[in-house]
Amino acid sequence: MDEISQIYSQVGDERLRQMVAAFYRRVKVDDLIGKMYPPDDWDGSEKRLADFLVYRFGGPQTYLEERGHPRLRARHFPFSIGMEERDRWLTLMGQAIKETGIEQARAVVMGQFFAQVADMMRNRES
Ligand code: HEM
Repeated sequence: MDEISQIYSQVGDERLRQMVAAFYRRVKVDDLIGKMYPPDDWDGSEKRLADFLVYRFGGPQTYLEERGHPRLRARHFPFSIGMEERDRWLTLMGQAIKETGIEQARAVVMGQFFAQVADMMRNRES
């Protein structure tokens, strides 16, 4: 098993969801990326990202059952994502990881994963 699929068992369901909650507390009030999210469905956005990460990090596959194949790049096409938006997403997630007290070794693995995926989401020249 690769390092990414061990994160769920190491970090645990509760802390992963706390991390996503801490992330969305920041996204909600963010001047650059906050306005991209559906304003009346913050709980839904939080659940989709949390379920996706639980699945991707080796936990239950609820995300797949409810949303199907992630197709993340396609699902981000409706949003204009350049380097600024990518960097902001990563900054807010980095703060959320810190706030949640994720252990350093795990934080590094997660950070590399997030950086890779976030870069793939770019669909606009900056
Ligand atoms: C690069 C900057 C990014 C921006 C600006 C961005 C923005 C958004 C927005 C506006 C949504 C729609 C909210 C919703 O309906 O859930 C969304 C959905 C989502 N994003 Fe991102 N995102 C970014 C990067 C990422 C990364 C790095 C990941 C994963 C590691 C990710 C995973 C997801 C997931 C799983 C969904 C829900 C997809 C679905 O099932 O509909 N996003 N994102």
